[in-house]
Amino acid sequence: MKKHEQLLNMLEEAGASPVSGEEISRMLNVSRTAVWKHVNKLRELGYVIEASPRLGYTLASKPDKLDADDLSGAIRTKVFGRRLQLLDTTVSTQGDAMRLAEQGAPEGTLVVSEEQTGGRGRQGRKFFSPSGKGVWMSVILRPQQPLQYTPQLTLLAGVAVCRAVRRVADVEAFIKWPNDLLVDGRKVCGILLESAVEDQRIRYCIAGIGIDVNLDAGDYPDELRPIATSLKEASGTPVDRTALIAAVMEELEGLYTLYSQEGFKPIGVLWEALSAIVGRQVSVRDNGQPVEGTAEGLDASGALLVRRSDGSLATIFSGDIQI
Ligand code: BTN
Repeated sequence: MKKHEQLLNMLEEAGASPVSGEEISRMLNVSRTAVWKHVNKLRELGYVIEASPRLGYTLASKPDKLDADDLSGAIRTKVFGRRLQLLDTTVSTQGDAMRLAEQGAPEGTLVVSEEQTGGRGRQGRKFFSPSGKGVWMSVILRPQQPLQYTPQLTLLAGVAVCRAVRRVADVEAFIKWPNDLLVDGRKVCGILLESAVEDQRIRYCIAGIGIDVNLDAGDYPDELRPIATSLKEASGTPVDRTALIAAVMEELEGLYTLYSQEGFKPIGVLWEALSAIVGRQVSVRDNGQPVEGTAEGLDASGALLVRRSDGSLATIFSGDIQI
């Protein structure tokens, strides 16, 4: 065990009682200057250590770090999240989950990372994923249905995350088509569904979910600050990421089972009830052509129906909506 880890154990065991520099130096067999260095190492890792003159050091708070055992214990599902890979950092959990899927990992396998250095969003955009502040995760799906129904899975994932967010963070989240989550009109979550296809058959899909959980306004780059928010900002209190991941897995499993038994209809009804756009004036590009009108809901395939002012109906399969 490294010296700073030994120091952490000492501070944890002492609880609220300060541990003197002298005692630490004796127990770790290091100089007083080295004690200071190890204290600072822990501070760099996100531990808050208070130092009081003459009394010594107290551990005031620990960084919010996900723990694989805690997470496995919290996830009470049969399939989703039962196999779990928890990483400190990665380029993108999408890539990790894809590699696992290629190696034959079963449906429900989940990859979670504290940080992504190359998080990916829809339409080739980057996805900001700083360390320890969010839920950045990808889950492997192995659906049996024909390829043309994959957009329905995107909507299903949106409903699952929206229900989980409402349950755990107690905020009024809504879904912006196809599957951004908004709170107070600002984005708190993005979902990216990528499929591997062969001979018009789905080999597997990766559902990538990025939730801004405990970011503060100052954590965002300038361009995101006006349009993004976090569950902590919206609810006024930090949100338990372990409980949130577990809730997303439960909702995904429940809705996926419902979908495989009853098809898209009940999912579509749930989606419309949580929609931020149904009944509202929207503008969207359909194959490059601008469409403006009132969002009416979803068709049976999951495409968005927009009623133009001349009464005609546009069916939108992809794109970005402006409200
Ligand atoms: C979007 O808003 O355009 C979709 C964002 C999806 C982000 C998640 S975070 C986990 C997974 N890994 C990625 O690189 N992207 C998805």
